[in-house]
Amino acid sequence: MKVLITGGAGYVGTGLIPVLLNAGHHVTVFDNLTFGIDPILPFFRNPNFEFIRGDIRDRAAVQEAARTADIIIHLAAIVGYPACRKDPELAEAVNVAGTQNVIDATSKNQLIIYGSTGSNYGAVEELCTEETPLNPLSLYGQTKTLAERMLLEERQTIAWRFATAFGVAPRLRLDLLVNDFTHKAVTEGYLVIYEKHFMRTFIHVHDMARVFLFGIENQDKMVNNVFNVGSRKMNYSKEDICNMINKYTGVYVHYADVGEDADKRNYVVCYNKINKLGFDTTISVEDGIRELVRVCKAIEFRRPYANV
Ligand SMILES: NC(=O)c1ccc[n+]([C@@H]2O[C@H](COP(=O)([O-])OP(=O)(O)OC[C@H]3O[C@@H](n4cnc5c(N)ncnc54)[C@H](O)[C@@H]3O)[C@@H](O)[C@H]2O)c1
Repeated sequence: MKVLITGGAGYVGTGLIPVLLNAGHHVTVFDNLTFGIDPILPFFRNPNFEFIRGDIRDRAAVQEAARTADIIIHLAAIVGYPACRKDPELAEAVNVAGTQNVIDATSKNQLIIYGSTGSNYGAVEELCTEETPLNPLSLYGQTKTLAERMLLEERQTIAWRFATAFGVAPRLRLDLLVNDFTHKAVTEGYLVIYEKHFMRTFIHVHDMARVFLFGIENQDKMVNNVFNVGSRKMNYSKEDICNMINKYTGVYVHYADVGEDADKRNYVVCYNKINKLGFDTTISVEDGIRELVRVCKAIEFRRPYANV
């Protein structure tokens, strides 16, 4: 299949490209290279890989890129509430108007797989299923919710409401909870944690890549549907995560009410819908922390005096 990945040079995309190439797909990445070209350089050796440098806000460029694709994986976005808060106009233009460009550039014969997010739910008290009403609290969640709805209304779409990613990918993000805490644990030796009892849900970036392949291979059963993507085994409190990181780094953890999550994510998520179709995750948070510790030690030296 010919697969176009918008935003494919990012964290999720650079983990996904090799999985699709290895499965025999032709992959075109459309990205404005916000984070540079280095993470995708190794893929240019593969004749089934193509790259288009373009902006998702550019209607004509998106039109041209999407013309021959069988499947469009739509990842291009301003990601996370801090980045959206920093430049709200850009967030709306990329996350919402950019998605409209994808809709306008495609037909109902093309499958769109959308990287949506658990941030769409906002604060949830009950077990969170796909039927739980959406109540996004941050601009990030609001733009992602709107884009998801537009796609489901207008196109043949599968939407993944992802847990929070962790783990190593060619473009490494260190702002994600597990990655951030592990990086700080290794480089600073201590963590200051607020909302320690808040429950969060996690997925390794490689399992995110696997679910896109799973969606392509099972599209008949999945199209026009939304799925929570993660695992029942991977609902943890922030304190649980800190205890795991402590096990591998000896980090000192101080709990204090010094901040809050703008998305108010404090929920336990149900993954039965996707599990029933045969998908589950394969990499535990603990395995991810071990992998991150090795990487963080290599990319930055421990600051010897950064103790408490
Ligand atoms: N990582 C997670 O935990 C997570 C969880 C849920 C959903 N998602 C979704 O997955 C997608 C990818 O997230 P990520 O973690 O890889 O983020 P990322 O920031 O690493 O990647 C986003 C990519 O989009 C590109 N991009 C941004 N603006 C663009 C524009 N105007 N034109 C073209 N390309 C543009 C960037 O260059 C980057 O390569 C996003 O849609 C995000 O909302 C991620």
